[in-house]
Amino acid sequence: SSSSSSNAAPSTPSQTSPSTHKSAKNHFDVVVIGAGAAGMMCAAVAGQRGRRVLMIDHASKLAEKIRISGGGRCNFTNLHVGPANFISENPHFCKSALSRYTPQDFLSLIKRYNIAYHEKHKGQLFCDHSAEDIIQMLKTECDRGHVQWRMPCNVDEVSKTEAGFLLNTSHGQLSCESLVVATGGLSIPKIGASDFSYRIAKQFGLKVVEPRPALVPLTFDAASWEAFVPLAGISLEVDIETGAKKERMVFREDLLFTHRGLSGPAVLQISSYWQSGQAIRVNLLPEIDVAEELIAAKSTSKKNLSNYLAAYLPSRLVDGLLQAHGFDGDLKIVDMQDKRLRLLGEKLNRWELFPNGSEGYRKAEVTRGGVDTRAVMQQSMMVKDVPGLYFVGEALDVTGWLGGFNFQWAWASGNAAGSAV
Ligand code: FDA
Repeated sequence: SSSSSSNAAPSTPSQTSPSTHKSAKNHFDVVVIGAGAAGMMCAAVAGQRGRRVLMIDHASKLAEKIRISGGGRCNFTNLHVGPANFISENPHFCKSALSRYTPQDFLSLIKRYNIAYHEKHKGQLFCDHSAEDIIQMLKTECDRGHVQWRMPCNVDEVSKTEAGFLLNTSHGQLSCESLVVATGGLSIPKIGASDFSYRIAKQFGLKVVEPRPALVPLTFDAASWEAFVPLAGISLEVDIETGAKKERMVFREDLLFTHRGLSGPAVLQISSYWQSGQAIRVNLLPEIDVAEELIAAKSTSKKNLSNYLAAYLPSRLVDGLLQAHGFDGDLKIVDMQDKRLRLLGEKLNRWELFPNGSEGYRKAEVTRGGVDTRAVMQQSMMVKDVPGLYFVGEALDVTGWLGGFNFQWAWASGNAAGSAV
């Protein structure tokens, strides 16, 4: 794979723009702020349509989030994308863009660049080699559209003019007809996340759906978690759920015990739905009714509790859980009351936990909430009341599940705006 220096800010390409529109050096048809997944897709599409596009980012390296995604291999899409895989206060909003730019569309691009990939599970597609392949592909697509760059560059002020927008930046004053805000959400401030998109939204009178960390490990207060600390490192497939009745969400994924709480895909998924104060429920043996099985086994098995359960779960987990829940693993099943076995069944099939919070934006893969999409046109991502102003990607109140859905939203919304600006 290529070295990280290949992601250094590209210099402005020497090609002259095909556009004859206003030749002023600092005027552009389109300025895209945020050289991440959605911004690069948008700039490439707009540039290849012949628009004179400038890309701005305050970071010195391109698309750091793509680089660290999917453990360095970028889970760039999911074969089974649908609106149900996204959380939003306006759940129909994502449909139009997703249907006009599908996982197959992104795959054709990947194939054109001969990027090797594989399916991991549940339709999740990853690069065989490195996420850098995706960054280089998007960079080349931008070059093909003669996109120009200002990186690192801070945008201090944005104002609306009759013909478009005026930007005060650390590279001086710039103007454009269309402005695309692609600065993402608040996750991972260390690599440059900022609240820029929310500030611009508020400046133009748009609502912002309260942002909060999502796809994030959940934590527990130290006293209540103490008994489970010895289980750190254990991972197993579970059913995990939160919410009641119509709001109820269930995922079957791997759960990971950590020193501070719970992580793994199961917990990341449910964290996006979990509300502070609510319980999460974990079924550690989704295929077995533990109480029924144990009560039936009383007449046939001479085993003690610990040995019996070790046939179903890792013994370190069995022993740790029995101890944490106050059961004596040395007791023979036959000597136990049905009432106790039912209680144990409850702890294994319907373990109720109350997280006290999450690991926060430091660890969150995405930000739930964002620019309220009810003010945005779903075909173009343009703000209904501010012609020429667009928001794309994670900045919007569209949050995907774990599994490639967030990148697919970035590609689809970037494409929608790139085709319209
Ligand atoms: P993105 O965050 O990609 O880009 C925003 C850009 O704006 C950045 O380049 C930033 O520097 C710039 N910017 C921010 N503030 C600015 C400002 N004030 N001025 C100028 N520039 C500014 N998703 C998925 O589908 N599959 C996966 O495998 C993973 N894996 C993953 C791992 C980890 C560790 C994280 C943190 C996240 C993921 N994700 C993921 C989520 C995915 O990375 C994310 O949803 C997309 O990158 C969002 O794309 P955007 O283009 O909207 O924002």
